[in-house]
Amino acid sequence: MDKEVLKSEIERLRSEKNAVIMAHYYQIDEIQEIADFVGDSLALAQQAAKTDADIIVLCGVHFMAETAKIISPDRKVLIPDAEAGCSLADSCPADEFEAFVKAHPDHTVVSYVNTSAAVKALTDIVVTSSNALQIIESLPKEEKIIFGPDRNLGNYIKSLSGRDMLIWNGACHVHEQFSLQKILALKKQHPQAEIIAHPECKQALLTVSDFIGSTSALIAYVQKAEVREFIVATEPGVLFEMSRKCPGKKFIPAPPDDASCACNECAFMRMHSLEKLYRCLRDELPEVLVDESMRQKALKSIQRMLDISAGIK
Ligand code: 13P
Ligand code: SF4
Repeated sequence: MDKEVLKSEIERLRSEKNAVIMAHYYQIDEIQEIADFVGDSLALAQQAAKTDADIIVLCGVHFMAETAKIISPDRKVLIPDAEAGCSLADSCPADEFEAFVKAHPDHTVVSYVNTSAAVKALTDIVVTSSNALQIIESLPKEEKIIFGPDRNLGNYIKSLSGRDMLIWNGACHVHEQFSLQKILALKKQHPQAEIIAHPECKQALLTVSDFIGSTSALIAYVQKAEVREFIVATEPGVLFEMSRKCPGKKFIPAPPDDASCACNECAFMRMHSLEKLYRCLRDELPEVLVDESMRQKALKSIQRMLDISAGIK
């Protein structure tokens, strides 16, 4: 189907069915353009909590749609491609995490939102990259903490907070393969440029970064920064919103180690297309469902996060 026809069909179905299209900043430009709401993982969860739509179409990875369903069980939650997973969530199988938690019974379990519902059900409090530091710091100083699954975010928060944290050894395949050498070479070519990075990047890259933050925090930073050039070490889908908000500024995507691949892009996030979004709205499939007893356990840990971060957008 022609792109313009696809877009008008999506718009027609969205209004006929009282659906809301939510998209993460890593989505392809066309999906960000047509979405009712674009945000980071915290903002998507906050939106899911307050929407009055009958259907939520979540254009992001599976754990984001699952989180929306956990928060809003009375809405039908759809995802254009159900195969849109997350390497970081996959690096933390629930059975192995459960054994780890059981081996450290005196610890509070803090999990990054990039996890399955089963892992969230084993968790005391969920965090995202927007609120991880604030939530860890809200815990009593002497509290022993298990943090999973991202080792880079975990170590970053541990170094900032000085808390007693046992960190799961998981990582995101996209953020771990940015080339520090190539980024430093780019910095030589663009000496005015600032390096900005998502906290899922390796520590060596975070150490040379001028600013570290979630996708929303990175976007807010480039808007207020005085410099006009940035080397952006996160999935390059975020450049769409940065360029939209700051038309006069230059954004250089951080290159991957292997020049022959596009592995600085998240293939999972990019599985959704206008065509799949249209079919998903038309057929109301694939639907995201969560077992009710697991949902209730997972909701507690997500709700704690939403309550603490009520002021963060
Ligand atoms: P944000 O919390 O910035 O949305 O990041 C989510 C994510 O998957 C990063 O890879
Ligand atoms: Fe998961 Fe990494 Fe993709 Fe983010 S970029 S959704 S952490 S695989």
